[in-house]
Amino acid sequence: MIKEIVLENFRNYEEVKVSFNEELNIFCGQNGQGKTNLLEAVYFLGMLSSFRKTDSTQMVRQGENSFSISGHFEGADAAALSIEKSHNGWKKICADGSNYKKKLDYIGKVRMVVFSPDEMELIQGSPEGRRRYLDRAYFNVYHHHLRQLKIFRRILKQRNSLLKKDAFRRQEINSWSEKLAYAGARVVKGRMSMTALLNEKLDKSHPFIGRDKVSLQYMGAFNADDDYEKIEAKLLASLFKLRKEEEQRRITLAGPHRDDIAILVNGVIAKSFSSRGEMRSVLLALKTAETEVYRSVWGETPLTLLDDVASELDIERRKALLSFLRQKGEQVLITTTEVENIPFERSSKDSLFMVSEGKILH
Ligand SMILES: Nc1ncnc2c1ncn2[C@@H]1O[C@H](COP(=O)(O)OP(=O)(O)OP(=O)(O)O)[C@@H](O)[C@H]1O
Ligand SMILES: [Mg+2]
Repeated sequence: MIKEIVLENFRNYEEVKVSFNEELNIFCGQNGQGKTNLLEAVYFLGMLSSFRKTDSTQMVRQGENSFSISGHFEGADAAALSIEKSHNGWKKICADGSNYKKKLDYIGKVRMVVFSPDEMELIQGSPEGRRRYLDRAYFNVYHHHLRQLKIFRRILKQRNSLLKKDAFRRQEINSWSEKLAYAGARVVKGRMSMTALLNEKLDKSHPFIGRDKVSLQYMGAFNADDDYEKIEAKLLASLFKLRKEEEQRRITLAGPHRDDIAILVNGVIAKSFSSRGEMRSVLLALKTAETEVYRSVWGETPLTLLDDVASELDIERRKALLSFLRQKGEQVLITTTEVENIPFERSSKDSLFMVSEGKILH
């Protein structure tokens, strides 16, 4: 749970401090006032990257040289996080008084699940976004996944550069194929584990998605119960089969870098038919499932950040979502342009903040 955050020179905030409620925190304001910026700051403090697609290089407030974000947490792996970044790079990455040189050792101390309109790309966009989503989600369950991904990428790069050479020894490429299949199998297995974890939670239907059943399917020639050896053997066989084509096209044509994850609604790929409102609901179902996975794996509830979630949902789904969140009693930060969009309860533990021109009033 996040207790408090302080921003300095972050985007349109000069200096701002926010103390959060332990349940629902609603940030309301007109367009361009700083609502998404605030959620971005919270996420950035924990993950050292943005959930936004654009603009992540321009976080330093215009006319300034650096920004800082610090926050206090409860029930997370660290009680105090503090970072500072200038145009030239990182100046400080600090958790509970210790400085971190490796970003990978720092990130994930506070687990977060974010919903942002940009993430509609997950449904509509290219496979790359879906692979990244699944990798990031699995990293939260099993930190080692990111290291395995890095190893795989390094091998892939080397194998590709070998394929680009005019003449290479077959034996050499064979040995890289073996390495690639070995490392690739670890990545594929990890992603399939995450797919299974999410599907288990997606099986329970949520009122805000109606009666539709959302599920994920890892695409590829693999079966859910394939072990490492089996996946490795399948990858190696694909590489062997594609050898001629690879020599012509000079890139690696099989492996986790080419896989896709299908997001299905009642067994049909969601992007092929869903309306925007429906896609939002599907995405919300996915995010809720993600939250449930973290809860069962870690016994700890992630912080939920919902940016502009209500705008394309009809009133019934909005109400259902809000009552679902309230019933869970977990901490949520949610933004909206219209306070009517979020059925707000003065009597409950809800807090309403007004965001205007980089100021936040409670
Ligand atoms: N580095 C920066 N320095 C100063 N202002 C910035 C910087 N980066 C972004 N901004 C400003 O922040 C504002 C956008 O804030 P934000 O995206 O949080 O808006 P919002 O309240 O979420 O709006 P919407 O309702 O449209 O989503 C814009 O006015 C933009 O110019
Ligand atoms: Mg916004």
